[in-house]
Order: sequence, then C-alpha cells, then structure tokens
Amino acid sequence: MSSSQIDHLLEETRRFAPSAEFAAGAVATAALYEQAAADREGFWAEQARALHWHTPFTEVLDWSNPPFARWFGDGELNVAYNCLDRHVEAGRGGRVALLWEGEPGDERAVTYAELADEVKRVANVLTGLGVAAGDRVAIYLPMIPEAVAAMLACARIGAIHSVVFGGFSADSLRARIDDAGAKVVITADGGYRKGKVSPLKPAVDLALGERPGLGAQQTVEHVLVVRRGGNDVEWNDGRDLWWHDVVPQASAEHEAAAFPAEHPLFILYTSGTTGTPKGILHTSGGYLTQAAFTNRIVHDLHPETDVYWCTADIGWITGHSYVVYGPLANGATQVLYEGTPDTPHPGRWWEIVQKYGVTILYTAPTAIRSFMKIGRKVPRRFDLTSLRVLGSVGEPINPEAWMWYRRIIGGKTAPIVDTWWQTETGAIMVSALPGITETKPGSAQVPLPGISIDVVDEDGAHVGNGNGGLLVITEPWPSMLRGIWGDPERFVATYWEKFQRLGYYFAGDGARLDQDGDVWFLGRVDDVMNVSGHRLSTTEIESALVAHEAVAEAAVVGASDETTGQAVVAFVIVKESYLAEHSPEGLAGALRLWVGEQIGPIARPRDVYIVGELPKTRSGKIMRRLLRDVAEGRDVGDTTTLADAAVMNVISAQVH
Ligand code: PRX
Repeated sequence: MSSSQIDHLLEETRRFAPSAEFAAGAVATAALYEQAAADREGFWAEQARALHWHTPFTEVLDWSNPPFARWFGDGELNVAYNCLDRHVEAGRGGRVALLWEGEPGDERAVTYAELADEVKRVANVLTGLGVAAGDRVAIYLPMIPEAVAAMLACARIGAIHSVVFGGFSADSLRARIDDAGAKVVITADGGYRKGKVSPLKPAVDLALGERPGLGAQQTVEHVLVVRRGGNDVEWNDGRDLWWHDVVPQASAEHEAAAFPAEHPLFILYTSGTTGTPKGILHTSGGYLTQAAFTNRIVHDLHPETDVYWCTADIGWITGHSYVVYGPLANGATQVLYEGTPDTPHPGRWWEIVQKYGVTILYTAPTAIRSFMKIGRKVPRRFDLTSLRVLGSVGEPINPEAWMWYRRIIGGKTAPIVDTWWQTETGAIMVSALPGITETKPGSAQVPLPGISIDVVDEDGAHVGNGNGGLLVITEPWPSMLRGIWGDPERFVATYWEKFQRLGYYFAGDGARLDQDGDVWFLGRVDDVMNVSGHRLSTTEIESALVAHEAVAEAAVVGASDETTGQAVVAFVIVKESYLAEHSPEGLAGALRLWVGEQIGPIARPRDVYIVGELPKTRSGKIMRRLLRDVAEGRDVGDTTTLADAAVMNVISAQVH
C-alpha cells in the first residue's frame, strides 16, 4: 500500500445524498440497522423466514465449535424449490426469469414455469445417471440458460455443484474435478466468445484423459453435453450424452426433497496464497438467506417491475449469488448475456440495456474502466434512462471511474453501490444502501445490517478513524464459508489463525477508516493478485512457469494496471542452455502462452522479464515488494534485508 494512494483517498470529498423520491420507494430502510444491532440473530432469523422451509428452524446460530458455524441448523429446505416452484405455485409462473441474449444475437425468454420444468427434467436425468445427494457435479458451461438449470438441478437433488469458469484450461479443470471427486461433468460443445466459438468439450476430454503424472481421471462416469457452438466434438460412447437427447425426454415431474439447512450446496474454487486452489464450501439455508436478502436491499430489487442485470459469469461467486441464487429466490426478471462486452461492437452492453430496459446494472470496475477508455461517445448512442441503480464489485473502484459510471451510465441520478465481499463470504458484506446512504466515490462504506466488521492492527486492536489496517469480520454471518473442501486445517489456518484469540475472520484485505468511520478498501495484503476482479495466486503462476522446461526460477507480482486493476508481471530465470539457443523475446512470448495454457488466459502475464537473478532475503525468501517497484516503474525501496543488495540494480538495468 503506498502512501500516495492514501493521500489520494483523503482528498476525495464529493458526497451524493439519495433523492427523496428514491428514498421513498427504496426497499431498504434505516430501521434495518437498528433492528440488527438490537438483536443480530433475531434479525437474521427474520430474513431467513422470507424463504420457504419444509421444516421451520428453531435454532438460529450454533457457534459452539468455532470456526465451524451452523445456521438454522434444525431447519430443512430445498434451494431449487425456493428459486422456482415457490414462484410458480404463487401464480407467478408466467413471469420471465431469464432474458437470455446469445453473443451472435439469438435470444430466448425463459419464464419461471419453463425454468422449473427444465430443472425438474435435468434433476431426473442426473438421478438416472446415479447422482445422489452429496455427490459432486462439475459444471463447465458458457452463459446459457442451461447453465442456470444445471446448477439448480444439482441443488434440487442435493448434489454439490462445482462450477468451473469456461476460461480455465483443461489442466485447471482436471485439478478441480479431481479435488472434488466429481461423478458427472456438464459441459457444452462450445460457447461464443469474441465472435468465435470457443470450444469446451475438447478441454473436458483432455482433462479426463491421460494427463502427465496423473493418468486418466477416475471419478467421472458421465459427461452431459449441451449443443451450443455447433463445433465438432469427439464422442466417448457410454460416457457422453447429449443434453438434447436426454433432457427433453425426461419427466417434468419431480418432487423437491427437503435437505437440512447445513447440507452442502456448492464448492467454488478460488486462488489462495499457495499453489493449489481452495474449494470454498457453501451450504444451503444461511447462504440462500443472505444472498436473497442482500440482493433485495443492496440492489433495491423490486421483482415485479425491475429488469436486473448482473454481468458476472456463473463461473465466479458473483454469478452464483447474484445471477442464480439471490435473484431467482427473489423472483426477479434478469438479463443473461453469453458474450463479451465489445462483440460485435463496443456498444453491445448499452444496446442490451436499451433493448431490455435494464433498471439495475451490477458489474466490475475493470469493465467500467475499459468503457472509459473507449470514451463516452459509445454509451451516449443508446438510451440508458431505464437504469436506476448501479453496482460495482470485485476490486476497489477508483473515484474517477465511479464518477464516470455515475455521469455517463447513471445519468447523474442512479445511486452507485460499491459492494465488498468475497467467494468466502458468499454474499455482500460492506456496501452503501441505495436510498439510505450518502455515497462517497471510491468507498465501499458501511457493513450491511447484521454484519460486524472492523479494521484492526496486527494485534487485532481497532485502528480508529483516519487510520489503515486489516479488515476483519468479527461475528459469524449466515452465508459464511463452512470450510475448504477436504481440508479443515487449511480453513482454520487461512482465515482464523491470525486473530484466533479474538475469533475474528481475516479477509486478507487492507482497508482504511475515514473520519466518518467509512471503509475504503486498499487491496490484498497477501500474495494474491486481483486481475480484472478475479483472484489469482502468485504461487500458482510461479508453479506454472517453473513447470516449463526452460525455466529455472520465477517470481510473479501484481503491478497496478490502468484497465485490469492489477496485471501479472513475471520475472524469470532461464536455464543457461536455453538462453544460448533462444532469444529472450521469443522465450518471453512462449512463456506467456504457456501460462495461458496451464491455467487459463486470465493468468497470462502482461510482461515476462528474463533476468539473471531474483532478490532474496538471507533466508531465501523472494522480496516481491522490490520486484513490484520495478514492475511499476518506481525507484526501488529499501534493499537492506537482501542477501545481495546489488541484485536490484542488475534487475532494474535488465528491465529498463
Ligand atoms: O480484495 C477483495 C476484492 O476481491 C476479493 C475477493 O475476490 P473473489 O473471492 O474473487 O470475489 C470477488 C467478487 C465478490 C476481496 O478479498 N474485492 C471484491 N469486491 C471489492 C473488493 N475490493 C474492494 N472493493 C470491493 N467492492
């Protein structure tokens, strides 16, 4: 965290109070804060009762075995029933759930009744394939209605889904399938990205086949394939099934069984500080309670009238909580878009807003910054006056991007909510409430009602207003992660050990409290980067680099980047024999591609520097802080703890 960053924040004095009109119709009320403060558990119990419980709960929070929480532990529910049947039974089956837009321009409107039927059919198909409650199903799909149906079908039968982002490579997919021990994979032949079909089934075949050092995958029995891209695929008879051959033929009769509130709902892998991704585990009752509640109050969702659009892919937590579970539990009508923002033209998103009359838009700062770069002329060509609430998620939003979002997209009236949360928290934790909070450009501001956070020093002491420190969550919350799949020790060590004595959850983020006590997030404090709102582990990319035959050693840092927030920058020591035969430029290019193949295109380094040495402490630890200085073009900071102080001069000279 640089001091200039903090100075910049201090200068930000613009304030935007909600209009009286907006406040009068807002879903959230200021009284929520008081109610939650008076009786936190009672408050959450009330929110949970907005769901349908097959068996009502009598206990709220069981925190007798921290950090393993149980919420609404003796209650039973069915998550898919809550997202679908409940609305159909209440006479709202004709309401559109999904306004789907494919990248080539094809479209489908899917009602709640239709989605419920589809989910029941898929549930019957999965059961027929031998999938039972507690079994794991990997989902590797583009943004098509079948992706939503697949997730809900798993939820309906109590199977645990593990959605893997379609941009991940076969290796990453294999690692996730293996870790979860998935029995079935649901995929598509391919999906549309940037005007082309991007193949998915071939990556699944590669992932399940013989992999170097791993052999063939053992747990997957079936692969269910949606036809979307129309690309050629290989077929493994007996293992592979076309969705269109089995789903339409299946019965749409399916009774939703009740599952305990703590029944696992999904695993979602995210990067940590070590090389192996963590399978973050979420359960049913508490997760759905907080996802649905926050979607209503933070996005000011009026399901009868709003057209909601969260642009996140279902491969990320935002897609889980704010495309699938929250909005569908609330009976919302939402846009689902398959493709990229600039295909076939740079105004594609704004065209969609205009076409469907989108009222609530929830997106990421990286998207806003790339639109800023293209200029206001593009959005100005479209009618965006339907927009009335704007949201931001994934990384700190800089005040200039916030102001651009407000002026150019929000017509200077739509409130902006900057929402802080994580894969681990399951739902929004810190955010302004539209209609209630006076907003500040660049600040995520205040914990939601029912959420307790603090900013503390290394000893866990409150830093006080005007100071920076570490963000902690001081009380358990309903949608908190329940663990890391198969690794309870890592769960405790990663999130709870640092402030064990105080029982605080450590989020890994730096934050600062301003004079009003509002929170300003300052980025990660560990070796995790945030590239375009996605977490990437430095160690994971270093491991991929070292796995290349040319590489002897590698260090990766996140350097600030105008568009993506942070960019991956790699410093690599190449084996002598290789350097003799290859040009450094050629090698750097090859290594960028290599990382893309190993992990996925999002992990591809922006820069690869071939260097002779890396800066290390006497104990051999790489000093990434110094490499970050070089990557960001700054003078190199304090080098006194280096084993060889001269090394940084050599590296700087090599880079510039
Ligand atoms: O560093 C924080 C940043 O994203 C991390 C969580 O990443 P992930 O689990 O992939 O989930 C992203 C979507 C919820 C956090 O530890 N982050 C997320 N939202 C914000 C943020 N940083 C600042 N402001 C935000 N609004």
